[in-house]
Amino acid sequence: MNLLVCGGAGFIGSNYCRYVLRTVPEDRIVILDALTYAGHRSTIEDVLATGRAEFVHGRIEDRDRVRQILTEHRIDAIVNFAAETHNDRSLLGAEEFLRTNVLGVQSLLDACLDSGVQRMVQVSTDEVYGSIGSGKWTEESPLLPNTPYSASKAAGDLLCRAAFVTYGTPVLVTRGGNTYGPYQYPEKLIPFFCTRLLTGKKAPLYGEGEQVREWIHVDDHCAAIDTVLRKGVPGEAYNISDANERQNREVAAKILEALGMDESRIKRIPDPRKGAHDQRYSMDSSKVRALGWEPQVPFEEGLRQTVNWYRENERWWRPIVESEPYRRFVERFYGPVLGEDL
Ligand code: TYD
Repeated sequence: MNLLVCGGAGFIGSNYCRYVLRTVPEDRIVILDALTYAGHRSTIEDVLATGRAEFVHGRIEDRDRVRQILTEHRIDAIVNFAAETHNDRSLLGAEEFLRTNVLGVQSLLDACLDSGVQRMVQVSTDEVYGSIGSGKWTEESPLLPNTPYSASKAAGDLLCRAAFVTYGTPVLVTRGGNTYGPYQYPEKLIPFFCTRLLTGKKAPLYGEGEQVREWIHVDDHCAAIDTVLRKGVPGEAYNISDANERQNREVAAKILEALGMDESRIKRIPDPRKGAHDQRYSMDSSKVRALGWEPQVPFEEGLRQTVNWYRENERWWRPIVESEPYRRFVERFYGPVLGEDL
């Protein structure tokens, strides 16, 4: 197959490209990426070096560009990772989130209509369901997002549904849990903590660190997305989870342990998300498991490997954390709560 991987220079997208190149020797990949703050050429150096992937710089909202790529490269399937993904940033301003996560998705769906694309996978998130006190969400649970970010992703999911119902567009939606692994931009919990701790700073734990997230290793998440692409039923949504629920403070403790550091390196801060902080995410993933997928990476092992990856790949993250836009974001968001520990 010829795959168009949108957002392929980001965290999950680049790992997905590696996964496909490793497991499906006949597939070729075109990466379309806007290289906004979270996408970097350095993230896909190894992917492009295989000679089976090429890079196009552009945005998914650019309808002409997308159509041109689909024709020129005879694209069979689209996997869309392109998204603004950080809750904390969406609290500072939601416009970009709507542009990419809503208008961008519609642009891809429209492009599918008059091209030879046989499948599109829209990569979404468990956050579209909101927060759940007990029990698990199934794919039939209502979408009740609580942040501008998750609301924009829910809108994208619904546009996919509408395209399928209206035109029969062969689109499938995946909803993944909190993902961790190499090449994750250092603003999310695990890479933010790793990079701060490795540069001698304190890591900020929001509130009491009691929120629960369902963590999944990026390789497992990518394998599940690929399973949905090749075996899923168009028009359907699939939850992707490892049934691995952890409180934030437990994750923080494990990162410290892997780095050989003690509790004093964590700073508890008043919750900067306020009402927008979801308490717990938990999904039933039996639907994707029925397609033959099973997670393979145990959390303790995956987390240790990930912490080691950040320890050994300062070359990748150092230029990011020292860049002006990154420092500006950290200062703006954490300045008021971290004070002298910024
Ligand atoms: P995050 O990685 O941003 O993912 P999401 O909000 O999409 O689940 O955050 C995971 C959890 O960790 C969330 O409950 C917020 C918390 N958190 C901290 O306590 N400190 C931090 O510095 C960050 C980035 C997150």
